[in-house]
Amino acid sequence: MTSLVVRDATQIVTLQGSGRLRGESLRAVTSDAGLSVGIQDGSIESVGRASGGDTEFDASGCTVVPGFVDCHTHVPFFGWRADEDAARLSGIRYETLHREEGGIFRSARLLAEAEDADVLAFSSRLAGEMLRSGTTSFETKSGYGLSLSAELRQLRLARELAASVPQTVVSTCLAAHAVPKDRSAGEWVGEAANELLPAVAAEGLATSVDVYVESIAFALEHAARLNEAAKPLGMGMRIHADQLEDGQGGSFAARWGFASADHLNHTSLPAVGDLAASDTVAVLLPGATFTLRQNKKPLARNLIEEGATVALGSDLNPGTSPIASMPFVMALACRLYGLRPLEALAAATVNAAHVCGLGETVGRLAPGYRADVVVLDVPAFEHVCYRPDHDAVLAVICGGEVVHLAPGAEDRLRS
Ligand code: NIG
Ligand code: FE
Repeated sequence: MTSLVVRDATQIVTLQGSGRLRGESLRAVTSDAGLSVGIQDGSIESVGRASGGDTEFDASGCTVVPGFVDCHTHVPFFGWRADEDAARLSGIRYETLHREEGGIFRSARLLAEAEDADVLAFSSRLAGEMLRSGTTSFETKSGYGLSLSAELRQLRLARELAASVPQTVVSTCLAAHAVPKDRSAGEWVGEAANELLPAVAAEGLATSVDVYVESIAFALEHAARLNEAAKPLGMGMRIHADQLEDGQGGSFAARWGFASADHLNHTSLPAVGDLAASDTVAVLLPGATFTLRQNKKPLARNLIEEGATVALGSDLNPGTSPIASMPFVMALACRLYGLRPLEALAAATVNAAHVCGLGETVGRLAPGYRADVVVLDVPAFEHVCYRPDHDAVLAVICGGEVVHLAPGAEDRLRS
């Protein structure tokens, strides 16, 4: 017996198939009408014409899509930096705030001074906001520790957070984010490679390692050192690349087989070719471009047309992207980067799941996949990108459970 049926969607985007969506397979993404999703024991059992279930959700007039996967966040953190944003709006640069020990250093201080319970309460509220906007899987990251013990603490808090939310959570050790004040970049990266990463692997605290390559932070040689250390520990590499200047991070990631290269605002056309020829996912974070009011945008259309795997993330963090909503991120990706709505959806589901190592179980509405389903109160997906200030999320199903219903949606649920 099917336990839950989401029935008679006016539009459904299943993203069926296998593997990442790039090149031809991305162009082939379409929508269907009148289909229903059958859910049993937390997994999708069928997608097709309606059949009866113990519980039914009437999705007539609605669009049904896979739950969103946010493959790049800086959760858990503690506290906001709205005053820094206001300073930036009066002309102060992000790099200046960083050099004056605001920015990442400030968030590291806020985290260090907060009790564990307060960090968890703050971050749980963010996870709740993400859930209500349809995010059913997300990445957590360290990087506001800036010492061995503080990085481990942040990763342990991420694990506690993961255990307390309905979403699927994967964890990344952002081993090199800002150069600690008492060390050189090389000294810290040596310590991270020799001590932090083995400790993280021994406790199973992260599946990936990340590095911030920028002239205010770390260099490609540091990314290479961390890659060397991560590989034998079975951890994938990610890189914050080319966000504020062209540091050649995009092509470096492609050449060394990193799982992803993220941001890419300044990545050059030849580097786009390198990414397109590789399996490194180009993770675009338009929330940061929007918040920092950056004129320089990634060559997103070239990435897509040359066949790179493109994913989207919120980059949720208190500095450069205080944005938790993936519908808003998809709207920004269309508006600022020129993605088409269904490209943005594929980037925020299937391709983002691949970045997180969840591509076989999450990101599609297909039999056997985890039953993460979002019902939108619009007749076609393109409305989400067209009306960014409209909260279209009517219902969120996470692992087969209805975890969020917008006011008024209760009437559509029948047992
Ligand atoms: O992805 N720039 C590096 N990391 C973050 C910002 C972190 C912060 O400002 O707290 C980013 O944009
Ligand atoms: Fe980031």
